[in-house]
Amino acid sequence: MIHPIVRYGDPVLETPSKAVEKFDEELQTLVADMFESMYAAQGVGLAAPQIGTSRRVCVIDVSLGKNLEAKIVCTNPEIIHAEGEQREEEGCLSVPGFRGHVARPQYVTVRAQDAAGKEFEMRGEGLLARAFCHEIDHLNGILFITHLSILKRDMIKRKIRKLKKAGDW
Ligand code: NI
Repeated sequence: MIHPIVRYGDPVLETPSKAVEKFDEELQTLVADMFESMYAAQGVGLAAPQIGTSRRVCVIDVSLGKNLEAKIVCTNPEIIHAEGEQREEEGCLSVPGFRGHVARPQYVTVRAQDAAGKEFEMRGEGLLARAFCHEIDHLNGILFITHLSILKRDMIKRKIRKLKKAGDW
């Protein structure tokens, strides 16, 4: 089922998510819904709070659905190693229409559990490393705009306030 993407301003996006303990049917449905919602919104990653569920689950596919093997499910993920630096433009489905340059590690290694609860480690480079950092930030209640300069962040917040007033957010 495709869920609407929660937008900046909803407190769920700034609340740390709870750890997943049960790898049951409900979790499988959540994961399937997250992939569906992410592809519908043409994103490369989605975290559970973005569809209103405060659980430590994220899905990533930097191939945008072109490569089945690129589908990644991370529950309870943590970054156990980071290396190098990249500085690229970043956006977020929860902050549509706004982008900004964010410094991230060039390589990260993530330890997580898959949808069945099996632990794995995965190393990501470039866009995948960025996606891991961005999605794990979401699970900690942190949005990419937090990493922008105060000036840029305030400008985005001001514009969003205007959009809200006009009923366009
Ligand atoms: Ni995001």
